[in-house]
Amino acid sequence: MPNKIALVTGANRGIGFETARQLAQQGIHVLLGARTLDKAQQAVDILKKEGLPHLSAIQLDVTSAKDREEVARYIGETFGGLDILVNNAAAIPKEGTLLDAMASQTSEAELEEAFQANLFAVVYLTRNLLPLLRKSEAGRIVNVSSSLGSLTLHDQNVPEVAYTKRFSYNASKAALNMFTIHLAQELAATNIKVNAVHPGWVKTELGTEHAPLEIPEGAKASVEAALLPNSGPSGHFMRQGGDQIPW
Ligand SMILES: NC(=O)c1ccc[n+]([C@@H]2O[C@H](COP(=O)([O-])OP(=O)(O)OC[C@H]3O[C@@H](n4cnc5c(N)ncnc54)[C@H](OP(=O)(O)O)[C@@H]3O)[C@@H](O)[C@H]2O)c1
Repeated sequence: MPNKIALVTGANRGIGFETARQLAQQGIHVLLGARTLDKAQQAVDILKKEGLPHLSAIQLDVTSAKDREEVARYIGETFGGLDILVNNAAAIPKEGTLLDAMASQTSEAELEEAFQANLFAVVYLTRNLLPLLRKSEAGRIVNVSSSLGSLTLHDQNVPEVAYTKRFSYNASKAALNMFTIHLAQELAATNIKVNAVHPGWVKTELGTEHAPLEIPEGAKASVEAALLPNSGPSGHFMRQGGDQIPW
């Protein structure tokens, strides 16, 4: 029987789906969250066909308060606690031109969409699940961020971020990083570690086909942070392999 329970949001495709697969391959019972139960179930069915037995499909639109509360109630009643939360789901506004993406031009609707999904939903879902994570002997919260959320890299305008200046997305990931630091410090005396990760530039719908990394490689940063030993860091912003990214 699995000795750990993990929830991955946005687990129906891309990096989230692969993160769920790699955690399940470690013998962890993985709850795959997706906007609809149908999408979650389809993802579970694929992994079950691969011989991974301990999986559950969860309806979880992360921007829905009702879904967030329901998932916390379900996990509490079914498992009594939670060991790993991977906040992977994200909104990536991609309508419009580069001009629309600029800080001076971004629409209110785009800013609100990015912050609802990439910051507020993460904060509220994490709060809903914190009582269950506190019951774990080794709770792990993984906030899937992006190097595009690094204030330092933007300030230096290094090539990694210089050509990707979508203000709404980058600002929402910077805010997610701040949540990561605050929560890690708040929970420093507990069994829970809170980290932000950057998957790299990965071939997904978000990353496009031009990205250099295949999805299995791109999920590794999340999986490593989810499986950190008790001696591992908390309050870090990391790439795969543990290299730190400046905030
Ligand atoms: N790919 C990259 O190069 C890259 C680089 C840096 C960081 N990241 C981060 O990595 C994470 C995964 O991205 P990805 O590349 O795998 O993107 P993706 O293939 O576009 O997948 C995004 C996932 O998020 C889900 N999602 C969006 N809004 C949601 C909501 N309100 N509730 C529940 N699920 C929702 C999507 O579900 P639907 O199918 O229903 O839309 C989908 O499963 C994101 O946090 C992203 O910011 C990716």
